[in-house]
Amino acid sequence: MPADYPFVLGITGATGMLFLHAFLKVAREENVSLHAIISPAGRRVLELESGVEAEALPGIERWFAADDFAATPSSGSSCYRGMVILPCTMGTLAAVASGFSINLIHRAAAVALKERRRLVLAVRETPLGRTHLQNMLMAHDAGAIICPTMPGYYLKPASLEEAAETWAWRLLDQLDPELEIAGRRRWK
Ligand SMILES: Cc1cc2nc3c(=O)[nH]c(=O)nc-3n(C[C@H](O)[C@H](O)[C@H](O)COP(=O)(O)O)c2cc1C
Repeated sequence: MPADYPFVLGITGATGMLFLHAFLKVAREENVSLHAIISPAGRRVLELESGVEAEALPGIERWFAADDFAATPSSGSSCYRGMVILPCTMGTLAAVASGFSINLIHRAAAVALKERRRLVLAVRETPLGRTHLQNMLMAHDAGAIICPTMPGYYLKPASLEEAAETWAWRLLDQLDPELEIAGRRRWK
């Protein structure tokens, strides 16, 4: 897919919306085009943690309702470069791992896998139970990249926001390995 085609962004109801804000900032700086879908739980957690409505998030070109199975991302013939689910709940992980599509986020993820497009799952839960671990392995084996919301600390981030931003660079590396991110600090 050409580099100016959009990615699908699925937002689900896990804690860690800080990472979503960091990713949106980096994506904006790199002119990455995003079409988004948010689950009802995602909407709830976003409001609880950030006090904002989804539609107020910056840098999202287009929104689709989570129950709109006729929306563009539900078809393999649509032109998306790939998809990221950020944050990704254990429930959504289970749906992706098992191919069970009860909302448009699950369906778009299933499409990304079947079309062999990149699918990155920014999973978040602690501690992780056996089912969670098994589902991660199943999703990995089906072609997804498991990228937990776990920042590194060796670049000595001065704040949570900075830690989240270093993590967002890593996420963008996974979504688009060709992208040379301006301002991206790398270990030398
Ligand atoms: C404040 C809050 C934080 C949550 N954090 C997590 C989390 O970190 N991981 C997780 O798997 N579920 C978490 N949940 C539970 C999910 O929101 C819930 O399982 C929901 O059904 C997931 O639906 P979705 O995957 O469609 O968004 C949280 C819920 C709330 C209200």
